[in-house]
Amino acid sequence: MTTLWSDHIAGLTPYVPGEQARIPNLLKLNTNENPYGPSPKAIEAMRAAVTDDLRLYPDYQAQALRQAVARRYRLTADQVFLGNGSDEVLAHVFNAFFLRGGRPLWLPDVTYSFYRTYCRFFQVPHRLIPLADDFTLKVADYTAVSEQEPAGIIFANPNAPTGCALGLDTIAAIAAAHPDSAVVVDEAYVDFGAESAAALLADTPNLMVVHTLSKSRSLAGLRVGYALASPELIQGLLRVKDSFNSYPLDRIALAGAQAAIEDEAWFERTCRAVIDAREQLVRELQGLGFAVLPSQANFVFARHRSHEAAIIARRLRDHGILVRHFQAPRIEQYLRITVGTPEQCARLCDTLKSVLST
Ligand SMILES: Cc1ncc(COP(=O)(O)O)c(C=O)c1O
Repeated sequence: MTTLWSDHIAGLTPYVPGEQARIPNLLKLNTNENPYGPSPKAIEAMRAAVTDDLRLYPDYQAQALRQAVARRYRLTADQVFLGNGSDEVLAHVFNAFFLRGGRPLWLPDVTYSFYRTYCRFFQVPHRLIPLADDFTLKVADYTAVSEQEPAGIIFANPNAPTGCALGLDTIAAIAAAHPDSAVVVDEAYVDFGAESAAALLADTPNLMVVHTLSKSRSLAGLRVGYALASPELIQGLLRVKDSFNSYPLDRIALAGAQAAIEDEAWFERTCRAVIDAREQLVRELQGLGFAVLPSQANFVFARHRSHEAAIIARRLRDHGILVRHFQAPRIEQYLRITVGTPEQCARLCDTLKSVLST
């Protein structure tokens, strides 16, 4: 029945999310979920939202949650945009800012692969800019004078799947070099040790920062993400959203997300635990013969001295442990491993010891 599809559908290459396997005693270290649960206050708020009011549509402007996010970053509610997971926010970003008279979007060659899915979906012309050999972003590639100004620039900070982070001076320099382009920083993992470019927003009207509640707030199942930017950029996103789906967040998600954003103590405690476990995991992986890139995220990107990454991933799976392996240029010898609890990391390392010795 593919003959009934719209013309462009056959040519799409959809993003493939990490496996959600049903394996007994599964240890899931492949999709960068948080090993600690969400704030108990968020769970309580969601339970309290399950009332007869669910017959009513939610607030399409989501004012209460926008105000809570704004307070957290010392911004105003008109600088906050909400979406059904940051993937949806990013989809609207591509639609709203990156289709500008054939100018290309600039993005790194090794980064979150959904960006290229959106390029294909929205038919955004783009230029892939290679990262350096050590997977750092070469700032001169983004600041040097270019024949054609980009429609926009997007990168993740910390980057995925590498975990490497940029400083705010670099981000400020990139945004300053392209005042007529939206510069979008995807900060899905920023809370695990990097600095948020939200601090630059007051002086940088072309900058947008995108966050998710899926990682540091442990709410991947709730689907909430947000963008922070100047009111002018946020207006662009709102126009797209309200031409697509006015109510991307339901009443339960709005209540849970607000309580999660407001529970700073839980957020800090669980982020700290993940960071501590990461540092310990890096040392253990190095001891097992892995080279590990410096990570400011809740995952590490590691390459073994002598064992094939794809084979290690397959053998770990046989032991009920999922890690992420990308069959992609430059990174096919790396594994992206989500940081779990200390006990989960210990199980991973014990299993790796036996996998690597056979
Ligand atoms: C860099 C990056 N951005 C965005 C997302 C999407 O997150 P979500 O749609 O769960 O908010 C992910 C998910 O893994 C990611 O790795």
